Amino acid sequence: MNVVEALRLPGIEESLSRVEVTLREATTGLDPFLSEVASHLVRAGGKRLRPALVVASAQACAGMGGVSDDVLQGAVAVELVHLGSLYHDDVMDEAPSRRGVESANTRWGNLVAILAGDFLLARASEIAASLGTEVAALLARTIGQLCEGEVGQLRYAFDTSRSEDAYLASIGGKTASLMSTAARVGGITSGAERHIIDALTDFGYSIGMAFQIWDDVRDLVSTPDDLGKPAGHDMVEGTYTLPVLRAMQVPGIGEDLTALLGVPLDPPARDKARDLVLSTEAISSSIATGRTWADRAADALEPLRANSAAPAHIDTLAAVGHRLLDELCA
Ligand code: IPE
Ligand code: MG
Ligand code: MG
Repeated sequence: MNVVEALRLPGIEESLSRVEVTLREATTGLDPFLSEVASHLVRAGGKRLRPALVVASAQACAGMGGVSDDVLQGAVAVELVHLGSLYHDDVMDEAPSRRGVESANTRWGNLVAILAGDFLLARASEIAASLGTEVAALLARTIGQLCEGEVGQLRYAFDTSRSEDAYLASIGGKTASLMSTAARVGGITSGAERHIIDALTDFGYSIGMAFQIWDDVRDLVSTPDDLGKPAGHDMVEGTYTLPVLRAMQVPGIGEDLTALLGVPLDPPARDKARDLVLSTEAISSSIATGRTWADRAADALEPLRANSAAPAHIDTLAAVGHRLLDELCA
């Protein structure tokens, strides 16, 4: 069970297929070339995790019936921000592929990929504005936080002295901020009360932290088949994530690991570095840290339980973080 399956609750499929149609409309019907580039990653699929969070959060407030147009537009705006950031991320990482297809930068070059990413952010802003100034300001702030998170990661690329605090701040910006916004937009667009909107915001943030820690552990422990790239790729890119930072602190092993890192790795060095990380408790301790965020996510939902129209749904949402992390222990 992964987080996406866990969010595919009754009634969500129908909403997500409406999201799909609107996403395609938002990225096509323009100049044919821009249309092709901007819809490239939409067509390639993706888990649609953030729209699922918008819809599931709205349902936690308003009950399990169909969701309003505003909720759907909110879901589309949030996914467009995610998509725009993926175009830019793939340029920065010089990534050859994404979602099982050639990346936009590989197919059309960096300049076109950057413009397509800008275009998607512009479309997201336009939709957000149609939902009111609060959603527009929220999305604008979130785009800023995504940039801060990415810059935080770039600043410490290949830096073996990166601290856990710097890591947590970076994943907070690059991942948790948009998940938090997704849940908040679900609350706002479904007309929830302020304290409920704020509770959903905390929930989304904590789920985002658990999600990124899961993603970072997964990069080290999964098979190349599951990952679509060799395990340990984050270290090759110079991104030293929580398990790697912790393994570097382990006496007797950390010294060897630190000596390998700090520079680009060839495949044998990558595998050696990965083996060193796996020989420590760093993986299990990182999963435990992920679980503290999963607990915080569950606790954040408590205010929603009073007079809830969908108590079972809230139980499911509260379990999402742990279900995701359970996958790593299977
Ligand atoms: C990828 O996000 C970037 C991260 C923040 C880890 P997802 O894993 O949600 O990517 P898609 O949307 O399913 O492709
Ligand atoms: Mg990146
Ligand atoms: Mg990753």
